[in-house]
Amino acid sequence: MEILKIDNVSLIYQTNEAETQALQNVNLSIEDGEFVAIIGPSGCGKTTILTLISGLMKPTSGAIYLDGKLIDKPVGDIGYMLQRDHLFAWRTILSNALLGPELQKKKTPETIEYVNGLIEKYGLGEFKKAYPRQLSGGMRQRAALIRTLAYRPKILLLDEPFSALDYQTRLSVCDDVHRIIKSEKKTAVLVTHDISEAISLADRIVVLSQRPATVKKVYTPNIEGTPLKRREDKSFSRWFDVIYKDVST
Ligand SMILES: Nc1ncnc2c1ncn2[C@@H]1O[C@H](COP(=O)(O)OP(=O)(O)OP(=O)(O)O)[C@@H](O)[C@H]1O
Ligand SMILES: [Mg+2]
Repeated sequence: MEILKIDNVSLIYQTNEAETQALQNVNLSIEDGEFVAIIGPSGCGKTTILTLISGLMKPTSGAIYLDGKLIDKPVGDIGYMLQRDHLFAWRTILSNALLGPELQKKKTPETIEYVNGLIEKYGLGEFKKAYPRQLSGGMRQRAALIRTLAYRPKILLLDEPFSALDYQTRLSVCDDVHRIIKSEKKTAVLVTHDISEAISLADRIVVLSQRPATVKKVYTPNIEGTPLKRREDKSFSRWFDVIYKDVST
């Protein structure tokens, strides 16, 4: 079932000095439970697409639909995970994770139980009362993902969420994030310029052109397993070559 539809979306940024066209006729349909990676050259308009999906900005033309409903204002059903974890230093991990429900005035016993459950299930049980500085970078990203899930979003938008981590940590956090998103049956849209990351995580890979971005190619590598396993698959480097050519031309 289709959960998100980007229908012929264009976006022009207007500033006093200049007009920048970021997106041109972007079309994309995403199925419920799908993990889609959007990949493209630096500055092509990737973050712009996520901002439009979140409803924080409106397209210049075209429309985006979530569950068939036009997105025309900030949407509560969407969770955003960014490059930096943005955990609050003065709050414990549990209280960071409960921030969303607290802001939405939905901190019910049921939500608290749900969030506690996520923390336990994803290996941070011992750190509930710890502060972010006591956690490793990878654990902090996991905590940030749990905080995003606490909003019970229909879709997760991930904007280069691993780029601040060192390479080894990145590999294991990719595995964690993939496992959590799949087992919670969430739909995810990941923006990255790391081709290997896209192939190892996503069910489908959308390659954007240079700015103004438009959809250049869509690939479904069909490699099974966890991100680490996929990296070992014999077709991995073939997919890498194909996508590398698209991104660099
Ligand atoms: N608020 C804004 N006002 C004006 N121009 C903007 C604004 N935000 C982004 N742009 C421009 O729009 C284009 C696309 O930006 P965007 O941030 O979406 O790219 P990106 O693909 O996410 O880049 P990166 O890979 O560096 O994260 C860029 O040329 C950028 O300078
Ligand atoms: Mg960006």
